[in-house]
Amino acid sequence: MEQEERTWLDKVLQWLDDRTGLYGHTLRQAPRYAYRLDFWLGSFVLASFLFEVFTGMLIALYYVPADPYASTSYLISNVPLGALLFSLHSWGAYAMIFLLIVHMTRNFLVGAYRKPREIMWVVGTLLAGLTLTEAYLGYSLPYNLISWTATTTGLNLFTYMPFGLSNLIAAMTLLPQLPGIASGVDPLVDRFFIFHWIVGALIAMVLGLHLYIFEKHGITPPLSKAKDRSELIDDYPEKLRNDPNWKLQPLTRTFGIIVVTFLMTFGAIFLISSAFPFQIAIDGATVKYIMPEYNPALAAQTPPIPDWYFLFIYFFYKSVSPSNASMIFLAWGAVTVLFPFIDQYVFRHKSPHPVMRPASMALGTGFIISFIVNSVWAYVTPGRDIGPIGVEVDGAAFLASFLVVFPTLRLLQGRVQEGGEDSFNLGKRLGFANSLQQTQEISLSRPVSLTVDLSILFTLGLIAYTSAKMLTLTNLFLDQFQLGLLAGINMFLLSYLVLIYTLKGDGK
Ligand code: HEM
Repeated sequence: MEQEERTWLDKVLQWLDDRTGLYGHTLRQAPRYAYRLDFWLGSFVLASFLFEVFTGMLIALYYVPADPYASTSYLISNVPLGALLFSLHSWGAYAMIFLLIVHMTRNFLVGAYRKPREIMWVVGTLLAGLTLTEAYLGYSLPYNLISWTATTTGLNLFTYMPFGLSNLIAAMTLLPQLPGIASGVDPLVDRFFIFHWIVGALIAMVLGLHLYIFEKHGITPPLSKAKDRSELIDDYPEKLRNDPNWKLQPLTRTFGIIVVTFLMTFGAIFLISSAFPFQIAIDGATVKYIMPEYNPALAAQTPPIPDWYFLFIYFFYKSVSPSNASMIFLAWGAVTVLFPFIDQYVFRHKSPHPVMRPASMALGTGFIISFIVNSVWAYVTPGRDIGPIGVEVDGAAFLASFLVVFPTLRLLQGRVQEGGEDSFNLGKRLGFANSLQQTQEISLSRPVSLTVDLSILFTLGLIAYTSAKMLTLTNLFLDQFQLGLLAGINMFLLSYLVLIYTLKGDGK
C-alpha cells in the first residue's frame, strides 16, 4: 500500500498494529469503495449487541430470578436510573433484531452470500437463531402476565417439533426441585436466566467466527468494481496498489467509521428508550412498571401475544395444526440457512448481479412479503385462529413473486448482457453520479471549508449545552428520561464530529 499522509491517530494505531497485528487480523483496513454506511450494516448490529451485553450486566445486578417480577419492579421504581436502564435494554433488543433483519436483507440483495461467503451466511443464520432465542429468554424474565403467558405458550408449541427436537427442549426445561424459589414463581425462570447468559456467550463466540471469516474475505465489492466477486480482497494486490477505489483507507478511517456506527446506534437507542419508556409510566412522583404480575388464573383469560419478531412463526400455529406448523417453520429455517447453496446448485445463478439471479430474488422476495403479511395478520388476530387460508396466502405470495419478479428480471437481463453488468446502474440511469465516484469525491476532498468549520463549532456548542443541561438534572427518578434524551442527542452530535474527523483523516 502506498504511504499516505497520516494523522497522529493513524500513527498510534500503526504502532499498535506493528506490535499486535490487531488491524492485520481483526480489524483490517477497508478499501476506499467501502466508505459508505451501507457497507457497515453489520457494525450497527455489533454495536447493538455490545450495548445489550453492557446494559444486561447492569440489570443483572438487581435481578433476582427467585423473585423476578418484584425485582424488576424494584429496579424500575426504586433504583436511580433503573427505569431508563430497563427501557434501554428492552428497546436495545428490538434495535438489534431490527438491524439484524436489515443487515441480512442487504446481504441477500447484493448477493453477499455467494461464493466464497456461503459460510458467512450460514454462520449469520446461526447468529439470527441465537439472537431470537436470546430475545425469547429475555422476554420471559420480567415474569409479567403477557410475557410469561407467551413464554409458556411458546414452550408448549415446541413440544410439537419433529425429529426429536421436542425432547431437546424437554431436557433443557426439566427441573429438579430447586430450593429458594419464592412461592408461586415458576422455577423455570431461574433456568431461563442462566440460559440468557449462556446464549449471550454463544452469540459472542459465533460472532467471533463471523468476524474472523469476514476479515479473511473482506467486504463484497460493489458490482461495478469487480467482474468476479468470488475473488477475495487479497487477490487484488495490483488494484490495492494502483486503483484509487481499491486502495486501502487509512486506519483512522476504518476506526472512525466503526465509532460512528456505534455512536449512531447508541444514540438512536437512547432517544427511542427515553421518548417511549418501555412499559413504564411516570405518575406524579412515582415511576411504575405498567405490566401486571403473572398469575395462572389471569393467564387463562389472557390471549398469548408473542413479541413482534415471533409473530411470523406464531402465524403458522394459528393457521394449521401444531405439528404441520412446526414442519413449515423448520422448512423456512432450512431454506434460509441453505440459501447460498440453493442459489448456486439449484438455481445455478452464475453472476452476482441481482438481475442475473432471478430465481433467488423471487424466492427472497416471497420470504420478505410473507414475513410482513404473517406478522401483521398474527398481530391483528390476538387469541384467534386464522385457519388454513393463512398458509394458502403465504403460498400465493411465493407464487406471485415468482410470477412477477422472475419474468421481470429475466426481461432486464438482456440489457445487462448488452452493455455489461455496469450498464444496469439505476443511479446512472436516473442521472445520479456513480456512487463510487461520489465516494471518491468525498474521500479526496478535505472538508475544511468555512461551512464545515462553522458546523463543527455549532456542534461543539450544542454538545456543551446538552452536557451542561445533563449536569443540572438532579432527580434521577423523574428526570431520567430527559437525561436519556440529552445523552442520545449528544451521541448523535458526537458521531457527526467523528465523521468529520474521519474525513480529515484521509489526509489529502
Ligand atoms: C448478531 C448478529 C450479526 C452481527 C453482529 C453481524 C456482524 C457483521 C459484521 C460486523 C460484518 C462486517 C461487514 C458489515 O459491517 O456489514 C458482517 C458481514 C456479513 N454478515 Fe453479518 N452479522 C450478524 C448476523 C448476520 C446474519 C443473520 C447474516 C445472514 C444470514 C449475516 C451475513 C453476513 C454476510 C454475508 C456478511 C458479508 C457481507 C459482505 O461481504 O458484504 N450476518 N456481519
